[in-house]
Amino acid sequence: MMVDHGSSGRFAPGGFLVVVAAAIYMFTCVSTASPIGLPNLRECQLATDSSVIGSPFTTRLNCCLPIPPGDVIDFSFQKYKNHNRRLRMPAHKISSDYIAKYRRAYEIMRALPQDDPRNFITQANVHCAFCNGAYKQPGTDGILIQMHFSWLFLIWHRWYLYFHERILGSLIGDPSFALVFWNWDDQRDGGNIMPAMFLPNNSSLYDANRNQANLPPTLAKLTPVMTGNDSEIINQNLNIMYQEVVTNDVAELFIGGPYRTGVDISNSTVLNAPLGGSIENGIHNAMHYWTGDPRQPLLQDMGTFSSASRDPIFYAHHSNLDRLWDKWRHGMPGGPRKDYSDPDFLNAEFYFYDENARLVKVNVRDGLDIEKLGYGYPDVAADELWINYSPLPVTTGSVVAAARAMGVPEIGAFPLNGTIVLGSAFSGIVKAPYRKSKASHQREVLVIEGLHVSRESFVSVVAFVNLPYANSSTATSSAEYVGTFNLVASPGKTITTNVKFEIGDNLKRIDIQDEPEVVITLAVKGTQSVRIKGLLIKYQ
Ligand code: C2O
Repeated sequence: MMVDHGSSGRFAPGGFLVVVAAAIYMFTCVSTASPIGLPNLRECQLATDSSVIGSPFTTRLNCCLPIPPGDVIDFSFQKYKNHNRRLRMPAHKISSDYIAKYRRAYEIMRALPQDDPRNFITQANVHCAFCNGAYKQPGTDGILIQMHFSWLFLIWHRWYLYFHERILGSLIGDPSFALVFWNWDDQRDGGNIMPAMFLPNNSSLYDANRNQANLPPTLAKLTPVMTGNDSEIINQNLNIMYQEVVTNDVAELFIGGPYRTGVDISNSTVLNAPLGGSIENGIHNAMHYWTGDPRQPLLQDMGTFSSASRDPIFYAHHSNLDRLWDKWRHGMPGGPRKDYSDPDFLNAEFYFYDENARLVKVNVRDGLDIEKLGYGYPDVAADELWINYSPLPVTTGSVVAAARAMGVPEIGAFPLNGTIVLGSAFSGIVKAPYRKSKASHQREVLVIEGLHVSRESFVSVVAFVNLPYANSSTATSSAEYVGTFNLVASPGKTITTNVKFEIGDNLKRIDIQDEPEVVITLAVKGTQSVRIKGLLIKYQ
């Protein structure tokens, strides 16, 4: 562990930096207050991904999308009416007839001509194009569109699946065809393994590029750092679900932070950093990692964005994320939760292909209610296990005094403490402001400011409170576990991001909610070191 303070010359002392920072901040806010709009599809560039075989190099991928003839269709509920509601079932519970139908749909999709927008590879390229930098944000000087790391993550993937499902249904002439969901959060009824329907290697649902060590009966691990026997894994999975979905109950924490025109996710700074939500940074990335093939340099297919959706299991994975968003909105104790109402969220627009191979444009607003979109999910009884999971603490009382005696440093907010280089684990003592009005709807949040990661390999940063001796194999089943930030590899690229976790529930369970300071520990799994600018606890 190393801490270097402002004296190293990274930060100018005094007010000058603050003034510059404030000016940058204001400029950023003023110039970027508009939703992400539709790109010019004629201006496509090669997307980027990288290879780490031999010496690392970056490859350029052609994910440019075909432009179908005819006008762009403006989405309306009328035009895309479903006569039957599509019911998405858990992948491990569907009938063999349903599996046969599912296989048939993907067979036809794979056999379509390459230039057909409904072709399987072209469908996969839609993901590559908007996640690996093929198109530019309109109204900017070439800033690329990126559908991860922000409030657009869940909604963009929802629309992506919506049209993918319609295409599959239309290819087999079944207007009520529905995708399945991979119920990896189910820790009781058999959902938490790779679903059997995707396994036979003579099927259109198979992908050879998967982690062979994670075939059934291996249990899915909802963080990449997890160790332990099956019952320990189950408890850790339940707590991870509880921490990510139940306690992160405000939109910014669960869905992700704002992303507007002008924000450059691949070239961000601490003051202009994107913010993925708990569900994206946590389980979503973890399951991409778990499924991807470690024999491939970037854990293809599922382990990297440019190839992830070449595995049919991708759509079942995202269907469960979509289900959990809906569950988060409507199915949690304490009543309905709110999506964003910011117009820059609601008015963002995307292109997709519909079942007639036409280009259609959609916005965020129209995608927020799945019943209106004509599909839904059944109730899943096993959800109750993680909703009601009640993590016990493994510590009693504050460990701040002991940690201070061990030499654990005090860490403040950016830019006070300079850059902290994280090795395998790092602990710091952080001020925990006292909340005056206990009735307020504010959440107590840990902010990891300016987390800077070079993306040479998959990285996990696991956060604990009151556990100064935690490391990356510490169990994630106790109340001291706060959350995990996972990042898929993209060699040659770096990201600077802020990470936020709700911690009020953790502090209460450990009974240190009134302490003026707490110990935060960040454990890193990955081959490279990461940097942070500061740690902060605040109410928001
Ligand atoms: Cu766009 Cu799960 O990735």
